[in-house]
Amino acid sequence: MWRLGDLSIGGPVVLGPMSGYTSAAYREFMRPFGVSMAYTEMVSDQGLKYGGRQTMSFLDFRSEGITGVQLFGHVPDDLLSAAEKALEINDSLAFVDINMGCPVPKVNRTGAGSALMKDPALCGDIVRKLKQNLCIPVTVKIRLGWTGSTANFMDVIREVEAAGVDAVCIHPRTRDERYTGKPHYDLVEGLRDEMSVPLIISGNIYSLDDAINARRTTGAEAVMLARGGIGNPFLVTQIDRYFRYGERLPNPTVRRQAELCLQLADMLIEENGEDIAMRRMRSFAPHFFSGCYRGKLYRNMLATGITDRQSLVDMLSKIVDKIGDDAIGSDGRCDAQEF
Ligand SMILES: Cc1cc2nc3c(=O)[nH]c(=O)nc-3n(C[C@H](O)[C@H](O)[C@H](O)COP(=O)(O)O)c2cc1C
Repeated sequence: MWRLGDLSIGGPVVLGPMSGYTSAAYREFMRPFGVSMAYTEMVSDQGLKYGGRQTMSFLDFRSEGITGVQLFGHVPDDLLSAAEKALEINDSLAFVDINMGCPVPKVNRTGAGSALMKDPALCGDIVRKLKQNLCIPVTVKIRLGWTGSTANFMDVIREVEAAGVDAVCIHPRTRDERYTGKPHYDLVEGLRDEMSVPLIISGNIYSLDDAINARRTTGAEAVMLARGGIGNPFLVTQIDRYFRYGERLPNPTVRRQAELCLQLADMLIEENGEDIAMRRMRSFAPHFFSGCYRGKLYRNMLATGITDRQSLVDMLSKIVDKIGDDAIGSDGRCDAQEF
């Protein structure tokens, strides 16, 4: 459907990187719904250099579909060494993405993440270094800029394009805005027309209409699902099917959501064991029941009550007994919940 360097990307939905969420099991859970490409959680170039245990665990998978490693760092040579090491460890990696948007102070203090956008020429140097030495596509993920008054995304795009970048993903918030407030779609209207490489658009995509508006406004090849995909894997299918066939699929029932929730739990158990998986499920599970009748009650129950797999099974059957035939979203829009 669109090209990322030599790769053919089969659809308009990309699964965004989210630290603490997008593990290999989560990506493989989401993939069959129509995810066309995915990213690892962000991986530190220094962590790779020193072989940190957690860093290595991010690369311990075999990807069935197109998955790229997302790296953070700020020195071109270090990022190149990290990319080479990542590819040595995992030869199923299909592309390398550089994080130029992370707003976390600990990351920014080292000069990485959105701090890179303060120096567009350095952004170009990083991409050039990787492009000159790697034979897989190189992408970047950026924001509008550091603050509203320094929204220099166009300068950064020009630099990385000149350096040979294969695609750009933009999250149209500034670093100062972190993840709050509405993304500034007005500032990226028609952006794809100004660019020479594919564009991926990220930011508050919680419904099919959000995806349609985001693509229509920007002209992007693909939308990136991040928070909006959590607990709503069928949204991937709804977006994919709409752009392929013009079809609008209805929301799934609560019964189906409960099945999917348990499927994710089992995949996470396989990945990390029951204790860690159930801790993660306290963040994932509530999102499967957004916009349901008495959804808040059920979400609180799941967020605080999951202790082991059996407790999850019991809570899910309670929910299904009460509202199994309702469709999610039938009690209001599936709004973002706090992360
Ligand atoms: C908890 C959390 C973790 C994230 N981790 C990453 C990350 O590791 N790398 C990255 O580029 N973006 C990361 N993001 C940003 C998302 O990929 C996405 O661009 C952003 O959340 C906007 O999309 P959304 O409004 O649909 O969530 C993270 C966002 C959240 C909420």
